[in-house]
Parts: sequence; structure tokens; C-alpha cells
Amino acid sequence: MAKVANRSHLKQFSFMLIMIIELSLFLHSVSSQEIPSRKILKQDNSNAVRLDTSNPDTVIVDNGLVRVTFENPSGYLVGIKHGNLDNVLETRNKHSNRGYWDLVWGDNSTYDKMETEHFNVITQTDDLVEISFNKTWNSHDHSAAPLNIDKRFIVRRGVPGIYAYAILEREQNFPSAEMYQIRLAFKLLGDK
Ligand SMILES: *[C@@H]1O[C@H](CO)[C@@H](O)[C@H](O)[C@H]1NC(C)=O
Ligand SMILES: *[C@@H]1O[C@H](CO)[C@@H](O)[C@H](O)[C@H]1NC(C)=O
Repeated sequence: MAKVANRSHLKQFSFMLIMIIELSLFLHSVSSQEIPSRKILKQDNSNAVRLDTSNPDTVIVDNGLVRVTFENPSGYLVGIKHGNLDNVLETRNKHSNRGYWDLVWGDNSTYDKMETEHFNVITQTDDLVEISFNKTWNSHDHSAAPLNIDKRFIVRRGVPGIYAYAILEREQNFPSAEMYQIRLAFKLLGDK
């Protein structure tokens, strides 16, 4: 599921990609227990969403149903704990090759893994945690598409999944470039 929306308040050109990943949908075959996500939402006894930044190299968001570990500040997803699985992602892969955004752009089809430099907390309540991993375009980085990148991830109370979107901003003085493909990729356990 991907949606592209225009945001007129950003300077020159920007758009968002919205991706909603409900683990309960695609994990049915791997997970032994069914989780009725919509029912859980209505119950009051679901856990508050917790954010753990005690380790400077990782950011962990946990709602009791799903526990998502990000590398800080690259924004790579390195772990998704769900049900009986400690990690739904392929643990034999490097941190940069488990859950990531990437894009292909320019005349030479340059590959950019959208690795970020800063971590920010956007919202932190018992019901919802939204975090951001961002970077400003560096013209000396020749693999980086000429865009400011802000990868956003949301975990909600009672929902066994992750919401993800990205804000890609092109400032007026940035060179023009064609982009052929933007993805959010997950390498699942056993799917090497
Ligand atoms: C594409 O590759 C060629 C040959 O390596 C190089 O000369 C050219 O500058 C590259 N173009 C861009 C836009 O990077
Ligand atoms: C990224 O976050 C930092 C704070 O950590 C902020 O100063 C900067 O403006 C942000 N950059 C972008 C491109 O959003």
C-alpha cells in the first residue's frame, strides 16, 4: 500500500510515501497465534507504547504486541519482535539489509539507501509514538539523491504493526534529478 500526496507548505517540491504495515496481515502463516487487532484496539488493558533510547545505538518502540528496534541514527529496522518470533527480520543479514528505505535515481541509476544522520522524537504518548530519522542533502555524497530525507515510523497502542512514511523535500537550489523507484523493503526471516 503506497500513497503519494502533495504538501504545498513545503518549499519547492516534496511528497510523502505512506506505508502501513500490519504484521497481523502478512505474518499469518508464520505466527501460531492469531491476533485480532481491531478488537484489541477497543480494549483498555492493552499496554502503553514505550520508547527506549537508553542505548545510544538503538531506538526501541514496544507496545506489548510488537517490539521494533531501529539502528540510530541510520533509521534501519534491525528487529521486529512479534508473537513467538524474536525477530521477524532476517537476523543473518547486516543491519543495513533487514528493513530499509531505498531509491534509484539519476542518469546512472544510482542506488541510495536513504541512510539518515539524526534521530528525533515527534510524538510520545501512551497511545502513540512517532519517531523520525532525517538528514539534509549533502552535495558531496554522490550516491545520495538531491533530497532532504525524513523517515517516519509510528507505533500505536493495541496495533500489532508499524506505520511508516517518508517526507522527501527538494529545495529550490537542489539540482534536478529523476527518480525511478522508491521502496520500503523488508527481508523476512528465512527469505535470504
Ligand atoms: C554517469 O557515469 C558516467 C561514467 O562513469 C560519468 O561520466 C557521469 O558523470 C555520470 N553521470 C552522473 C549524472 O553521475
Ligand atoms: C533533522 O533533525 C534535526 C534535529 O535533530 C534538525 O535540526 C534538522 O533541521 C532536521 N533536518 C531535516 C532535513 O528535517
